[in-house]
Amino acid sequence: MWDDLKRLGGIAAERRIEDLFENGSRAGEFSLNAAGLLFDYSKTQLDEQIRAALVRLAQDADVEARRDAMFAGAPINETEGRAVLHTALRNLDGGPVMVDGTDVMPEVLGTLDRMAALADEVRASDVTDVVNIGIGGSDLGPAMAYRALSPYRDGPRCHFVSNVDGADIADVLRGLDPQTTLFVVASKTFTTIETMTNARTAKAWLDDRGVSSAERFVALSSNRAKAAEWGIPESRTFGFADWVGGRYSMWGPIGLSLMIAIGPQAFRAFLRGGQEMDRHFLAAPLHQNMPVLLALVGMWHNQVLGHATRAVLPYDNRLARLPAYLQQLEMESNGKGVSMDGADLRCESGPVVWGEPGTNGQHAFYQLIHQGTRVVPCEFMVAATGHEPELRHHHDLLVANCLAQSEALMKGRSLEEAREIMRAKGLEGDELERQARHRVFPGNRPSTTLVYPQLTPEVLGKIVALYEHRVFVEGVILDINSFDQWGVELGKELATALGPIVSGEASAEGKDGSTRQLVDYVLLYRT
Ligand code: F6P
Repeated sequence: MWDDLKRLGGIAAERRIEDLFENGSRAGEFSLNAAGLLFDYSKTQLDEQIRAALVRLAQDADVEARRDAMFAGAPINETEGRAVLHTALRNLDGGPVMVDGTDVMPEVLGTLDRMAALADEVRASDVTDVVNIGIGGSDLGPAMAYRALSPYRDGPRCHFVSNVDGADIADVLRGLDPQTTLFVVASKTFTTIETMTNARTAKAWLDDRGVSSAERFVALSSNRAKAAEWGIPESRTFGFADWVGGRYSMWGPIGLSLMIAIGPQAFRAFLRGGQEMDRHFLAAPLHQNMPVLLALVGMWHNQVLGHATRAVLPYDNRLARLPAYLQQLEMESNGKGVSMDGADLRCESGPVVWGEPGTNGQHAFYQLIHQGTRVVPCEFMVAATGHEPELRHHHDLLVANCLAQSEALMKGRSLEEAREIMRAKGLEGDELERQARHRVFPGNRPSTTLVYPQLTPEVLGKIVALYEHRVFVEGVILDINSFDQWGVELGKELATALGPIVSGEASAEGKDGSTRQLVDYVLLYRT
């Protein structure tokens, strides 16, 4: 199947995307409207034959059976022997979800109610600031969503501290009042060095100011014992099961800071959005299934055509942290070199994901996207309506820019057109030719566009669930376990060993020359 797709890729490379629109119904045929979102993938090289071959790829990989197994609580995270059930966290009005013969829904919904009770209590109290201390999946999801949903914030301000760099917590604590600040320690394992170091610093900050930390800390964790050891009482600990992966955890307790900020009702709307996308993913046939198509288009660009990176370009300033969130989701899930059975992967793993909001990116890196020698498939996204009716002209400009970029990438500008422009400016001869060549845009560069009505909690839920399922589908086709992350372990181990060396308590002997040199430099300038 891959060979077949590579052959189709070779044929596609010979033609221009723009020409595919000679078929007047292409836009409708190569886009999908589901759960109120419009996903337009017509500005890619896909034609019916390629799409059918890609869908066959999904069929051959048994995506539907794997999907059903995931939703049914089968232990599909095989290297850790766990189910993968973040979908249960948003199964608001769904039926039972069984894990090892037990329905987990009463516990999930009970925890959601407890979270809502605490959120209401905090919102009604004198708490002005909430500091979420967590990293990776215990930070990126709530931090991204908090920013995305700022028009809905009617509760305390939230701050997100993640980096072990003391600058992070120092900058956040400066200006906060210890009497009105609540710390939320978010860590699935409750052992992550960055989070525990920051949590200890927060505790010391309170102690130094004579404020008891007993009422000022909340724990969100799968490791209740560790949270208790840390002195956070059971009543202020919100647990979740090990079948919620870190980067899929914002739907449950890890979303608490978001819930405090926007209120339990809006948080539930976010969950409902996710659930609606789940329902679509479960019910729609593969060729009309948005997460499946998003995955297949991505795989066409990455695994078939060899474009190693993917730019995520939200024309929505409030989605500024979405690229970072998707980086973890995609790269920690599908950045693996071996398949389920431990054999080497037969094709490339997931792509490098990066991006920034438009229009800012246009004035920074779009130059390379338009005229660089590498093709960067772009994923645009934009809301039909903003939240600032009085600034509608801003939004119109935003949308126009978003649409203009995908059009420009596809159409480009030929040498002849560039010459014409130079001629109109009065240039001629060699100078005309030289100047014209700098103004050529190769075009034929693929992009997709996701349009949504407005960035509401519900819509954000749909978008996040869409991307989660996309990553799942890619993982199934690649035969990767998308739910472990062994690749982060080695660095953690070496950092633990280097700690005493960097602080001058142990010798760097036995380390490589480069590491020794770097340590020497640091020790020399250490104050
Ligand atoms: O970096 C690895 C990782 O385990 C992520 O998968 C996870 O989201 C993050 O660290 C934080 O882990 P925890 O929530 O256990 O502190």
